[in-house]
Amino acid sequence: MKHYSIAIDGPSASGKSTIAKILATKLGFTYIDTGAMYRAFTLAVLENNLDPKNEEECDSLIGKISIDFDENNHITLNNKDVSERVRQNDVADNVSYVSTYKNIRLWLVGLQRKLASNRSVIMDGRDIGSHVLPNASVKFFQIADVNERAERRYMENLQKGIQTTKEECLENLKKRDYIDSHRDFAPLKQASDSILIDTTNMKISDVVDKMYIVLKNKGII
Ligand code: C5P
Repeated sequence: MKHYSIAIDGPSASGKSTIAKILATKLGFTYIDTGAMYRAFTLAVLENNLDPKNEEECDSLIGKISIDFDENNHITLNNKDVSERVRQNDVADNVSYVSTYKNIRLWLVGLQRKLASNRSVIMDGRDIGSHVLPNASVKFFQIADVNERAERRYMENLQKGIQTTKEECLENLKKRDYIDSHRDFAPLKQASDSILIDTTNMKISDVVDKMYIVLKNKGII
């Protein structure tokens, strides 16, 4: 059976995971949230009292921890479901430092490619189309105005019971966007062959429909 891979990249809180989850369910593909993997690594750094700004300290965990997804597609760290824990502010504040480190990226990219090797996947992140799956069947680059993204993240945090203000969300997004797009290795970047979708004034269902049409035209569904 032929396997397909769909890459969705874009800045923080541009709605990638919401769309990817809906599409994955619709198509019967596996959804892989690579941001959750960087968050889980960052959680391990914090739990081990290591300094997220010290590359050597962070690198020391490579291969010594296990990061995976369980049967509910929840992110696990050392076989423990940490899907809610990795959304907390301490992880969000430090994840972009940890994800600049090349050796950590190489290790996680290896895991990501393995997960995509034997099934059809929708993978979201920052470098999926440009680095992780350069031969993806389709690549999307999803963007939205930063104020709208902050509003969306604030509402999401409220629902999850995470205490933040809108201003804090905006600052965190701006900081992560900057670090993610300026790092040396595999930065946040639109792949030249990806399709740009600005979701600022779009409903979720419209974004899904738009991608669905692309997938149909490309013969994937
Ligand atoms: O997607 P999410 O916002 O959960 O990602 C958290 C962080 O993980 C990003 O801000 C970025 O620093 C890092 N990340 C990355 N490469 C990916 C996915 C996420 O560097 N493919």
